[in-house]
Amino acid sequence: EVMGQLLGMREKEKQLAAHFQIEHCTIASGDSDITAKVSEDFGRSATETLSFLLPKGENIIAVMGGTTMAHLAEMLTPTLSEERKLIFVPARGGIGESIEIQANAICAKMAQHTHGEHRVLYVPEHVSMETYASLLQEPAVRDILEMVEQSNAVLHSIGVATHMAERRNMSAEVLSLLKEKEAVGEAFGYFFNEQGEVVYKIPRIGLQLKDLAKTPCVLAVAGGHSKAKAIESYMKNAPKQTWLITDEGAANEILKGE
Ligand code: BG6
Repeated sequence: EVMGQLLGMREKEKQLAAHFQIEHCTIASGDSDITAKVSEDFGRSATETLSFLLPKGENIIAVMGGTTMAHLAEMLTPTLSEERKLIFVPARGGIGESIEIQANAICAKMAQHTHGEHRVLYVPEHVSMETYASLLQEPAVRDILEMVEQSNAVLHSIGVATHMAERRNMSAEVLSLLKEKEAVGEAFGYFFNEQGEVVYKIPRIGLQLKDLAKTPCVLAVAGGHSKAKAIESYMKNAPKQTWLITDEGAANEILKGE
């Protein structure tokens, strides 16, 4: 029976990958909205996936923030550094998250757990456009942005639009715009409607959606039935080489419409 369940899951993973027209999906059993432990499976799958996808030698891995990435960081292991030098860099400038789920902190955690290195991007959230522009001239900032540009891998999650906008303390105007435009999902500071159209973008430096096309390894990790629509909306934009790690909670909801 266990064998049958396993086969069923492999089948579902193929179906989901075909649905999104991407390289590969891994589905953890359970629903991470209900069972927190599912995120440990995300961690294990991510380690396996990265071991498989990352080339030997130096790897620059651009990382986004969020609670999913924060949990994932805890689960990565030093085996990833065998025959590899890993350098984790924040993919985008601060987008208003609390400290422990900011990309800077997550990069540090990932480096610690894999015995790799990390870099910090010092760009605060609430500064004037002027200050922002001059910060970009700072060598310490430019060096990191250059590394992001050269990154060969990207690790990110996908969020529920309204939840993300609130968590990041976005203005009342933006909140009502997102509502009016029926944003359902968010990734990399871009907000998407159900059709997968970008309806708003947080203007920040670093990785842009179009840059993903040339990134050899893109790993998206997001699960829970509450994220089903969000995942769908972003995945309409995801580059083909994306590997998605999700769970049954989200997958069943997404495939229900098939
Ligand atoms: C980040 C993404 O990795 O995860 C964000 O870059 C996304 O754009 C966020 O919204 C999701 O956060 P959480 O806490 O749901 O994992």
